[in-house]
Amino acid sequence: MAFRLLLALAALAASAAAADLDWWQTAVYYQIYPRSFKDSDGDGVGDLNGITSKLEHLKDAGVTATWLSPIFKSPMADFGYDIADFYNIDPLFGSNEDFFALKARADELGLKVLLDFVPNHSSNESEWFTKSIQRIDPYTDYYVWEDGVPNADDPSKRDPPNNWISNFGGSAWAWNEERGQFFLHQFGLGQPDLNYRSPALVEEMKNVLRFWLDRGIDGFRVDAVPFLFENATLADEPRSYDPSALPTDEKYLKHIYTQNLPETMDMLTQWRAVLDEYTAKDGETRVMLAEVYAPLLTTFEYFGTQEKPGAHLPFNFQFIQYLTNSSSAQDLVDLALQWQNGIPSWATSNWVVGNHDNHRAASRYGRELVDGLNMLVLLLPGVAVTYNGEEIGMEDAFISWSQSVDPMGLNAGPDRYQLFSRDPERTPFQWDDSKNAGFSDADTTWLPVNSDYKALNLKSEEGVAHSHYTTYQHLTTARKLPAVQRGALDIQALGDVVAFSRTLEGEQTVVVLVNWGADSLTVDASVLAGAQGELTVLIPSDNASYAEGDVVEASSIKMGPKDGLVLTSA
Ligand code: NOJ
Ligand code: MG
Repeated sequence: MAFRLLLALAALAASAAAADLDWWQTAVYYQIYPRSFKDSDGDGVGDLNGITSKLEHLKDAGVTATWLSPIFKSPMADFGYDIADFYNIDPLFGSNEDFFALKARADELGLKVLLDFVPNHSSNESEWFTKSIQRIDPYTDYYVWEDGVPNADDPSKRDPPNNWISNFGGSAWAWNEERGQFFLHQFGLGQPDLNYRSPALVEEMKNVLRFWLDRGIDGFRVDAVPFLFENATLADEPRSYDPSALPTDEKYLKHIYTQNLPETMDMLTQWRAVLDEYTAKDGETRVMLAEVYAPLLTTFEYFGTQEKPGAHLPFNFQFIQYLTNSSSAQDLVDLALQWQNGIPSWATSNWVVGNHDNHRAASRYGRELVDGLNMLVLLLPGVAVTYNGEEIGMEDAFISWSQSVDPMGLNAGPDRYQLFSRDPERTPFQWDDSKNAGFSDADTTWLPVNSDYKALNLKSEEGVAHSHYTTYQHLTTARKLPAVQRGALDIQALGDVVAFSRTLEGEQTVVVLVNWGADSLTVDASVLAGAQGELTVLIPSDNASYAEGDVVEASSIKMGPKDGLVLTSA
């Protein structure tokens, strides 16, 4: 009954802890990929009313905030990351009113709602782009237009101004016949880059923020932050000499002129100032999460300074970028410490293992590590981010070439699509074992449901002792313990075991052990701060050697392969 006891303690502690930490610092952010969460109208694509109907699941899981991947008007060339109208919801997902209803339901449940702000580009079907092509002010300079250079063989033709490569492969420049110029697209052809050297555009995008803030949202996840500005000299980028990169791959070049420019850092502080105006009005923090895949020191710059803050939380992609299935426990610990010791002393930490752009954690590291990974994400200091499905251990689906829809995969062609496609991690949420895993009544869904859904679904895990989901629920509850909210971190690799403790003066110590290796072992956890003597098992993973409530000697704890354990001091 240790867990019951914990619940009572946690409830007591929560109010005390809330006194000095703001909502965004203790949150569990749950990313919903709207196309794949729940389809309410039977067209095979998830929608807002579907999400609203399932918000109780978030509450039940113990998450406290959600960010929705883009739901705005879009031709869906990049599944919503190509926005044609930043002020309106796409009819595929519902109406603006449906969104307000979703928000109202979230409010009732005490869940914060964040939207995805996609500032780097719009859709080529945006009215802004049409007017920019026609040089109608103020839209003329809303995009990055260039004349290019005369073609060496045929001077009547023009070549792109430089060698820049799009993230989706091939030249980042495309010719527009009507305007007689090239436009820049750092992502797909249908995603022309917006021009942050245009003051009118800068103001427009701030108005987009204000528009949704005025409608009560709690913050934004900001997309593709590093790409906002490009070097104005348009110089060629140098080769990366990455042996795996073809000349048309984004990895072929070092992005010294197209990513992470000082102007980009500054724009983030300007957006933060917009958010802070709202925060100042009613004391409710509007939060900014920033998507940055960059070298660590560059990522840290996006926190800004205390005087001029940037994002509250640049995502911690350390595990996503560098932790592989051949990494050791020590590698994992090193990655965690690089992040934890590197962030500004005043900053709040965060932990992420998955999203809609990366293969699912359960598939990258193995399904046996699902609980262990959730223990790390949810019990390390700061906030946790969960990609929908991680709470039940969802895995990548196999998507054949003919089933593929992701432009990143399609652009790579049938032989290389699997290296790039993000379809496998985007398949519908597995609610139960009925048709389409309870996601939709449609005969076909936009991406197929993973064939493992009959066994792997929320319903089969609900109320079941030691299922991934029950473990997840216990972990979100355990987050309320004072040592988890505010305690110091001591993290070490003890052989194959990722081991850490969270200690706080006068409070129970929380110890987390994850056997990252393939062998059974006995670990001495007493080397961790605050972990001496007897410990009580609070949350064992699926097939752990101990049951909840077992008392063990810290110096000799048995673990099976990939086991995870959460323990507390007496
Ligand atoms: C990052 C998003 O997460 C990804 O899905 C998208 O393709 C690019 N940015 C472009 O918006
Ligand atoms: Mg639908």
